[in-house]
Amino acid sequence: MSKLWGGRFTKETNKLVEEYTASIQFDQKLAFEDIEGSLAHVQMLGECGILPAEDVKLIQTGLHKIADRIRSGEVQFSIENEDIHMNIEKMLIDEIGPAGGKLHTGRSRNDQVATDMHLYVRKKTKDMIANITGVQESLIHQAKANMETYMPGYTHLQRAQPILFAHHLLAYFWMLERDKERFSDSLKRTDWLPLGAGALAGTTFPINRERTCELLGFGKIYPNSLDAVSDRDFVLEFLADASILMAHISRLSEEMVLWSSQEFQFIELDDSFCTGSSIMPQKKNPDVPELLRGKTGRVFGHLIGLLTVIKGLPLAYNKDMQEDKEGIFDTVETLEGALQLLAPMIQTMKVKKENMFKTVSNDYSNATDIADYLVRKGLPFRDAHAVIGQIVLYGIQHRKYLLDLSMEEYHRFSPLFDKDIYKVLEPKQVVEARNSAGGTGHEQVALQLEMAEAVLKKMHA
Ligand code: ARG
Repeated sequence: MSKLWGGRFTKETNKLVEEYTASIQFDQKLAFEDIEGSLAHVQMLGECGILPAEDVKLIQTGLHKIADRIRSGEVQFSIENEDIHMNIEKMLIDEIGPAGGKLHTGRSRNDQVATDMHLYVRKKTKDMIANITGVQESLIHQAKANMETYMPGYTHLQRAQPILFAHHLLAYFWMLERDKERFSDSLKRTDWLPLGAGALAGTTFPINRERTCELLGFGKIYPNSLDAVSDRDFVLEFLADASILMAHISRLSEEMVLWSSQEFQFIELDDSFCTGSSIMPQKKNPDVPELLRGKTGRVFGHLIGLLTVIKGLPLAYNKDMQEDKEGIFDTVETLEGALQLLAPMIQTMKVKKENMFKTVSNDYSNATDIADYLVRKGLPFRDAHAVIGQIVLYGIQHRKYLLDLSMEEYHRFSPLFDKDIYKVLEPKQVVEARNSAGGTGHEQVALQLEMAEAVLKKMHA
């Protein structure tokens, strides 16, 4: 079968080369973006008097027919036509005859593929932001239900200070909010249109790039044709944003795995989000958060992969750049799946409030609060820290928590202690006392929740 570019060749392409260089197996995902770009291009060619109106009409009708056919699933793409661009062009010529061959006037596959990728990344960035919002909503739902749930806060995975579970969940809300900001900021750069850059140097036809830009709804055209066809920063940026998002998802997943373990027993994931063991009948495994954590590897991999592809490329287009696609397609699929699972999994998880409370009642996580107590009585913090260190050691040696020590025992360490110390040490009081901005005190978390809801409302408006 002769190639669209076959003129200067005297031999058929080696079959292995054909298979190795083709991208149609994966870039068929860009079919609708490719057609959208072509429709705008051909309309502009018509308006600029480069193609006669009849040809424009024929081409447009043909492209719409092809789009319908692809949508209905009846199209078989062929590897002989290498990629989505030439597959569609060939279908168009088969459909409408020689006029189809005019579509590629003033255009190259280099600016065409870059345009397809811009359209794809733009759409997927917006979808991503919407999917992240779904997870934020479920975090807010659980935070609201857990404004009175006390849990140990950790540093070094050692119990540090008690906190509200709502506070812990909202920490993830803000991470995700920054992720959305990053994606939405990257849209500024995805918003440049490469079409009209030609193969690398522009075109001899009197095209109107601004018009194509307007038709496709982009903010501006690339000012430099070499940059236009060889830039994949917008793909890298998407992958970088996706990687940070995936890191956040992975951290939350790790906590869900820990929390649902027998050792923690802080939450129970809904049965519909867990799987069993083929040998151990008692098992209920948190496969979903484990896989979310595991799939982080491939997303990071795609970012490093593309950075490596790009780093040594001379200007302008090089075939290496075809390698930008599978990584981003897989990243999009991985994240869409992750976010769509995460939202209902958070929403349906059962929070074991009593267990969480039991842990903060049976530890030394109120130690900072007695130190602060002595500071309020006039002792410098460093001295207070040393006194409390001694008390904690005494408690460990005598198997007593801080609330179990008698007044007499407290007085052995400092005369500054009074009966009011017992109130200060209650876990609820320990949490409430942290009423500084952004802290875990009830009042602060309520304010935070309001801010979070306002942020989401603003976006929906
Ligand atoms: N399939 C190619 C890609 O994805 C399209 C551009 C091909 N351009 C070229 N000059 N061979 O990058």
